[in-house]
Amino acid sequence: MREVAIIGVGLTKFGELWDKSFRNLITEAGSKAILDAGISGSEIDALYVGSMSAGRFVGQEHVGALVADSSGLSSMHIPATRVESACASGGMALRQAYIAVASGMHDIVVVGGVEKMTDVVGGEATNILAMAADQEWEAFFGVTFPALYAMIARRHMHEYGTTREQLAQVAVKNHENGLLNPEAQFHRKITIEDVINAPMVADPLTLLDCSPISDGAAALILCPLDRAKDYTDKIVKIIGAGQASDSLALHGREDICTFRATVNAARMAYEQAGIKPTDIDVAEVHDCFTIAEILAIEDLGFVKKGEGGKAVEEGRTARDGDIPINPSGGLKAKGHPVGATGVAQVAEIVLQLRGEAGERQIKDARIGLAHNIGGSGASCTVHIMEVA
Ligand code: COA
Repeated sequence: MREVAIIGVGLTKFGELWDKSFRNLITEAGSKAILDAGISGSEIDALYVGSMSAGRFVGQEHVGALVADSSGLSSMHIPATRVESACASGGMALRQAYIAVASGMHDIVVVGGVEKMTDVVGGEATNILAMAADQEWEAFFGVTFPALYAMIARRHMHEYGTTREQLAQVAVKNHENGLLNPEAQFHRKITIEDVINAPMVADPLTLLDCSPISDGAAALILCPLDRAKDYTDKIVKIIGAGQASDSLALHGREDICTFRATVNAARMAYEQAGIKPTDIDVAEVHDCFTIAEILAIEDLGFVKKGEGGKAVEEGRTARDGDIPINPSGGLKAKGHPVGATGVAQVAEIVLQLRGEAGERQIKDARIGLAHNIGGSGASCTVHIMEVA
């Protein structure tokens, strides 16, 4: 396999972007990534785009062709592929692109991720998202994603003594980080009391334990490492790419407090990279709910199983802690346009490794990890990046 570099990143703002359409968002992110990489459109060999449910959110399917067309690439007739794996669609699109470049099939590849979720009204977004759960055995009975993660949270509290305050601290920390990210959906400092006293969504999770409904897009440009220096001197390479799956419904698992898809995707990525969890300087993890960040830092091996809550409480995951988690604000404060999230996480890691993350820069970051989950953990990607 060839080594693969990320030579360009592009992000739109995340939030309720009523003045921008689905195609506006992905075109904006893609153009920014192309400019950042300094490539010309005619050099692009292929396009992969992650989108979870464009059909239900904006009535648009055939997303691969749409993105190529709206980016002005349709006359080049390049392969344009849409990838879907619920909230992990972005991470999966990146992995497909990575495999395409590593294998020698393509050289310059654009990876996009996009979702426009705020055009639907009422509880419709919740219903659409629930389509990523097991329709026959979960969603049919009225279970939503907040409810599934609430059950995980209750079990984690029961098994390991994780406290309500520790869950809330995840949201407090990520909102604090989001204050320093101009592209984040929320720029609002919150306290533990704010989280606990916010409207209840699914006990014990309140509104402030949840990631929001968001619009947004992100893009990356990949190329073989040996060509990266032709475009940039700020080269970041992908040193590990893991992907794994698990039972779709929670009841199919022996232990709902461990996401085996994360454990296996991480093992694959660490083995490929030849590193240990302690070598990671900064990570973006999938905090769709506060409990999800606690599970993630345990399953990625940053802390022992059951000690995630304590690590957050002790400040170890803050920007100045020994394992800085979600300096971008995470899904919680930056926003969670589901198809875009996995690509945006990697964009943040690239900015961190280039030393271009502004006020939220993690000092001396050289190796970073991005962790993207689909649904309640039935699919997962883990990518590890290093300064080349
Ligand atoms: N965090 C912080 N603030 C939020 C928020 C969140 N997650 N969601 C909404 N808000 C704010 C809004 O900005 C708004 O503020 P304003 O009154 O100052 O304008 C206010 O809360 C009410 O917003 P509204 O859109 O009416 O909230 P809602 O009740 O319709 O939705 C949730 C709130 C938590 C139910 C919704 O965000 C949600 O479903 N999140 C989970 C998404 C999800 O499941 N993703 C997939 C994960 S697997």
